[in-house]
Amino acid sequence: MKDAEQKHLWWQEGVIYQIYPRSYQDSNGDGVGDLQGIIQRLDHIKSLGIKAIWISPIFSSPMADFGYDISDYCDIHPLFGTMDDFDELLQAVHERDMKLILDLVPNHTSDEHPWFKESRSSKDNPKRNWYIWQDANADGSEPNNWLSVFGGSAWEWDEKTGQYYYHAFLKEQPDLNWRNPEVQEAMLNVMRFWLDKGVDGFRVDVMWHMIKDDQLRDNPVNPNYKAHQATYEKLIPAYSTDQPEVHDIVHKMRRVLDSYDERMMIGEIYLPIHKLMTYYGTDKNGAHLPFNFLLLSIDWDATEISSNINQYEGALPDGGWPNWVLGNHDQPRITSRVGKAQARVAAMLLLTLRGTPTIYYGDEIGMRDVPIPPDEIQDPQGLNMPGLNLSRDPQRTPMQWDNSENAGFTQSKPWLRLPEDYRRVNVKAQLEDEFSIYALYKRLIKLRQDEPALHIGSYRPVVATGPLLAYLRYTGEQRFLILLNLSHKPCHFAPEHFSFEGTIVIDTLPEREGGKVRKHVSLSGDEGMIIRLNTA
Ligand code: GLC
Repeated sequence: MKDAEQKHLWWQEGVIYQIYPRSYQDSNGDGVGDLQGIIQRLDHIKSLGIKAIWISPIFSSPMADFGYDISDYCDIHPLFGTMDDFDELLQAVHERDMKLILDLVPNHTSDEHPWFKESRSSKDNPKRNWYIWQDANADGSEPNNWLSVFGGSAWEWDEKTGQYYYHAFLKEQPDLNWRNPEVQEAMLNVMRFWLDKGVDGFRVDVMWHMIKDDQLRDNPVNPNYKAHQATYEKLIPAYSTDQPEVHDIVHKMRRVLDSYDERMMIGEIYLPIHKLMTYYGTDKNGAHLPFNFLLLSIDWDATEISSNINQYEGALPDGGWPNWVLGNHDQPRITSRVGKAQARVAAMLLLTLRGTPTIYYGDEIGMRDVPIPPDEIQDPQGLNMPGLNLSRDPQRTPMQWDNSENAGFTQSKPWLRLPEDYRRVNVKAQLEDEFSIYALYKRLIKLRQDEPALHIGSYRPVVATGPLLAYLRYTGEQRFLILLNLSHKPCHFAPEHFSFEGTIVIDTLPEREGGKVRKHVSLSGDEGMIIRLNTA
C-alpha cells in the first residue's frame, strides 16, 4: 500500500516538541521551571504548529539525575507542582488539540523508591528480587566487569545485606529486575495509571537497557576506546544491553497501549540501524517510534547523511514509521554542533524528511549550548567524569523568552545560568523578525502540515555531488524537491539524469522565494530550499 493511502495517526502526521521542564518556564519564582509555567507557554508551542509535547520526568524524585531517578511514578515532584497542576496541563494541552507524552523510566528507580528500600532491607524481603542483587566473587570482587554509563563500576556493595546491586547509571538509580513478573506488572500499572488519566503516550527511557544477560557474563573490551571518551566506552555492552528478551517486555508495554485508543510509545535507543529496527517488533508489536538518533551522531556531511538516510529508509520494517531527531537533553544542541547558519539548513532537513520530527525546546530560536563554569556544573555525568567535558548542563539551560531580566524565565536566580546574549536571542525578538530562525521553523512546520507530500508522502533520494543533499518528497501529483547545501560555500545543482521545473516555496534566503527554477540551480553557502515541482 502506498503511504498516502494508509490512515495516518497523529504521531505520524504531526511534529513532537520536547520540553525539559526544569528549564521551560518558572511560575513560582524558585528558579526552576514547573507545570504552571508550561501551561503559560502552551500558546507559543501551539502557534509553532506542534502536535505533541513530550515532557522529561516530572515525578517524585531526589533529583540525583534530575528526575530520571524516580521515587514515586504516580506522583508529581513539588518543584513542578501538584497532581491538580498536571491535570490542568493535560486538559489545557487537549483543549488546544495537542497531545501529551510523558517520560516513562522503567529501567531503574531511585534508591529512595519504597520498592528499593524494601528490597535492600534484607535478603529475604519479598521485593529482594525486584532488583539485581549478586554475591561478591570469592575474592570479594564485583560479580562481573560491567561499567556504569556515568563512570566507575556498575556494581554497588550493600554492607548491610552483604551483596552487590547493579546500576547502569548512578548508584542512586538501581536497575529493576525485569525478569521478575511482579516488576513487569507494577510498571505496566504505572502506564495504566497515566493512560487512564488521558495521557497520549510515553517516551520510554533507555529501552535497550531493560533486560540484562541472565548469566551476567563479562562485557568484551572495546578495542576502539579513546581516552577522551566516557569510561563506559571501555567495554562493549554486549551482555548488559539489547538482550533478545527485551522485545517481550516492549511487546507487553505495547499491549497495554493498544488496549487504549491511539496511544503511542517512543523508545530511547542508541543502537546501530539494524538493531534499532528490531524495536519496531515483529508484526508491529514493538515501539511505535524507536527514536532515530542518526543525525545526532554522524558527521555533518552530505554523502554521509544521504547514505544514512537511505540505509535507515531501506532497513525500516513493513509498516514501520520513520522519525528524526536533531537534539535532546543529553546531546549538544544542533546550533552548537553545526553553527548558526547550518542550523537553519538542519531545520529544513528535519522538517522535510519522511517521518515524525522531534524538536528540542529552544532549537526553534537557535539556542546554543551555554558555557557553564566548572563550579556551577550540576549534571552528575559532568561531575563524575571531570575533564571529559561530558556535562549535559549546557544544553539544558533556561528557555530564552524575552529581553527582560533572566530572559523572562524566572523572577529569581535560574537553576542554570543564561547565555550573555539572551537579550538578543529570544522568542520575543524573533517573533518580530521575519528572517529569524523561529520564523523559518514556523513556516517549515506549516508547509509540512499543509502538504501531504511532506507529512505523509514518500521519499526518494536524488543524486547530487559535493556538499549538496537532494531528495524528493511526493504523493500523487504533488512533488517537492529539497536541496540543502551543507557547506558555507556556494554550489551548483545540475543533475544529469533528472530534469525539473518548479517554484521555490521556502528558502533559508527568503528573498528567493517565489522564484522559478528549471533544470539547474545555484545555491549560496548555507542555503537550503524547498521547490514545488510543476505537475506534468
Ligand atoms: C536517559 C535519559 C538521561 C538519563 C538516563 C538515565 O538516557 O535521557 O537523561 O540520565 O537515561 O535515566
